Amino acid sequence: MRPHLSNYAGREQAYVKHHFLADYVERLVFKVASVYRDVVYIDGFSGPWKDQGQSFEDTSFGIALEALRRAKAEWKRIKGVDVTMTALLVERDPEAYRRLLEVIPLYPDIRIKTFSGEFVPLVDDLIKTIPPGAFTFVLMDPKGWKIDMSAVAPLIGRSNTEVVLNFMFDFINRFAMMDQPAIQAGLDALLPATDWRKQLAELAADPMDRGANARKDVLVSAISEVIARLGRYPHVMETPVLYPTKDRTFYSLIYATRSDVGIEVFRECQHDALKAQDLVRDQLKADKRAQATLMDDMFAGTPTGNEFAAKWMAEQEVAARAALIAMIPEGPASVRYGDVWPAVLAKHGVRRRRLARLAAELRASGTLKFLDWAQRKQVPDDDYRVQR
Ligand SMILES: C[S@@+](CC[C@H](N)C(=O)[O-])C[C@H]1O[C@@H](n2cnc3c(N)ncnc32)[C@H](O)[C@@H]1O
Repeated sequence: MRPHLSNYAGREQAYVKHHFLADYVERLVFKVASVYRDVVYIDGFSGPWKDQGQSFEDTSFGIALEALRRAKAEWKRIKGVDVTMTALLVERDPEAYRRLLEVIPLYPDIRIKTFSGEFVPLVDDLIKTIPPGAFTFVLMDPKGWKIDMSAVAPLIGRSNTEVVLNFMFDFINRFAMMDQPAIQAGLDALLPATDWRKQLAELAADPMDRGANARKDVLVSAISEVIARLGRYPHVMETPVLYPTKDRTFYSLIYATRSDVGIEVFRECQHDALKAQDLVRDQLKADKRAQATLMDDMFAGTPTGNEFAAKWMAEQEVAARAALIAMIPEGPASVRYGDVWPAVLAKHGVRRRRLARLAAELRASGTLKFLDWAQRKQVPDDDYRVQR
């Protein structure tokens, strides 16, 4: 169930984050519960935090609990199987923790265990609480960036685990060049054994100022590398969340998976979240203009020419098309299409269906040759061999 925008006045970026989370958890928990008898959701920084809803429907754990409940009920109905759903919720602020406890009686169908305290020192306890063989979703959404990633490695490195991390890009970017030892130690713990400092220094020395986007690439690559290495994830992807009314990234949602299905679902959820983000931003900008002119904005609801999603997706599509072509060998060698699309989607923000259409267009133009294309097929099957 998607979040309601009315619960997010003044924090619309959280709406976009929750839009993504709701879609992602809902779709993946449902798929995972067809195979695993135990599914666990871990929220390392639960809150509640600035929630405005009646019963936690605008919090990350509330959204996850709803998804767990629905998947459990659906699999019971479809196959008569009982999937045990568990939520492990950590919160260090005593007042927020007290409110967190109020969610337990609302979900008697889910095993909820709450932990009062700091996330990182609780990692061992969390691991011990995960039933053997469970599939686990880990969300880390701190207010800042204080996570010792090496200490979290045993949790995110478990098999059958996926991770979403809210990487507070704009804060980190602003603090990255400050000298204070405590700040730099915190960043070292978040981004161990990466060369982001050197890369940022090179950017700063570059007379062609390539701006915040280039700095973002450096920092997002660093955190992605850390999660990939410490958690042994072949695929780590990012989706940007912008400031509600500024054309700048506020934070990045970083997602790590080991499965092709994860990649595919992530790109779907990303697409929908970016579209939702554009709508919200457009509305907010129109409201702002209307307030400024004290009259109804005659342009409200019409495109501002500033839509992020459309531009971003068009750029990603160009890159995905080039990557697809580059991954396909010249004849007589060939590869299975099913071995190519996950690698393209893992790197570029394009959905599986859209890439399949691009592949069909490349076939029509003669750029790619599919050896097994059946008559009347619109898009390739995974088993089709393809060559240039
Ligand atoms: C950004 S809020 C979480 C919001 C929540 N994920 C959501 O989307 O609804 C971060 C929460 O983490 C808590 N927190 C901050 N540092 C923490 C730590 N080291 N361990 C556990 N909780 C922490 C804060 O008190 C706050 O409630």
